[in-house]
Amino acid sequence: MEKLVIHGGNRLTGEMSVHGSKNSALPILAATALTGCESVIHNCPRLSDVDAAIDILKSLGCKVNRENDTVTVNSCCLENDEVPAPLMQKMRSSVIFMGAMLGRNGKAVLSAPGGCEIGLRPIDMHISAVKALGVSVTNEDGRLYFTAENGLKGAKITLPFPSVGATENVMLAACVAKGTTVLDNAAREPEITDLADFLNKCGARIYGAGDSTLIIKGVNRLHPAEHTVIPDRIAAASYLLCAAVTQGNILINEITPKHIAVLLPVLQEMGCIIKLSANSVRLVAPARLSRVEILRTMPYPGFPTDIQAPMTAALSVADGTSVMIENIFESRYKHISELLKLGANISVEGRMAVIRGVPYLSGALLRAPDLRGGFALITAALAARGESEITHIEHIYRGYEEPEHILESLGADIKRI
Ligand code: EPZ
Repeated sequence: MEKLVIHGGNRLTGEMSVHGSKNSALPILAATALTGCESVIHNCPRLSDVDAAIDILKSLGCKVNRENDTVTVNSCCLENDEVPAPLMQKMRSSVIFMGAMLGRNGKAVLSAPGGCEIGLRPIDMHISAVKALGVSVTNEDGRLYFTAENGLKGAKITLPFPSVGATENVMLAACVAKGTTVLDNAAREPEITDLADFLNKCGARIYGAGDSTLIIKGVNRLHPAEHTVIPDRIAAASYLLCAAVTQGNILINEITPKHIAVLLPVLQEMGCIIKLSANSVRLVAPARLSRVEILRTMPYPGFPTDIQAPMTAALSVADGTSVMIENIFESRYKHISELLKLGANISVEGRMAVIRGVPYLSGALLRAPDLRGGFALITAALAARGESEITHIEHIYRGYEEPEHILESLGADIKRI
């Protein structure tokens, strides 16, 4: 079994850039199945979840070629309507193929999606939304059969919660539906805007991405397009937190600072100096971080749930007591029992974690519970005295491209064994 071995205590310094956004690349790759022609996607990160999306495209009959960070997909001849169960199991985002396949063929067969175990993660909102577009859904032999017998029809839909995945599925299906769809309470994440940008380059007419109402005017067909995936804001935030816990001084280039705008004042409250340019962020950390009074995870532009775990790790060595409230996923504190092994003082009650900062952590044997929880353990181990070993690191590689190389280049003592 592979593991990461980290000797903590090294100060991180230097410059880096982040890979393309996982959570943009996945729906955009699904969208390439909808277009029925060739799409060229640049800045596609080399991550196991992206490999899973490529395997799904191939299983549907697409021709896919990857050269470095550019993935070319030709979806002219789709052969299958079903995402095979073993591929569904590989990641949660397999569910986004539903909207793409419905838009393409009016049919999709899916089984239960896999992915990080961070909560129940039902897909009821996806199902009600596509039903509103004229899709019937039946559940047989552990599979969900989606059929738009009379074609997809634009509709007025209000999501009960701004679900990222449900918003993406509606965009994919509605952009080729007959008539106009108005989606209220849509997710506003930058990844939604990136998907809209790609689809609009293909000829779709999606208006309002980034706002909570999307207007999607259905078009008859899409055409070939080339697109560059936005930088990964969650990876950028994660590395800033690694610098913050190691008294570091790092510059992250080629990112979009406004995508992490909510994090920057929090880092300042923790005592970090932040210097911004149009496409870079420098963080200079203090000798010891300060606590933050209270942080609540919220849909974008609120504090991202995906940064909660690395932030909890950073606050575990801050001076004072911080409170974290996880509002998005009900089981996203699995990293905390691992942080306790390092000597952190954190208690959890329901959605609230109370983090009493300790002066130092000490190396321990750790197990990555999920993607962001796994990165939180890297963050904590970089700050800890002595050696830590992290197992089950396959979770981490779903969302971070070669983190050991990036961190080593900044001065960390980290090895993948
Ligand atoms: C996306 O997941 C991201 N994944 C997640 O990133 C991210 O944590 C999440 O959005 C929130 O920002 C991708 O983009 C691939 P949601 P998604 O639908 O679409 C509930 C990471 O670490 N819900 O916005 O699955 C759901 O259970 C990952 O990179 C329903 O109840 O998130 C959750 O509590 C993990 N019914 C909340 O809504 C539904 O039908 C938000 O989920 C759909 C969602």
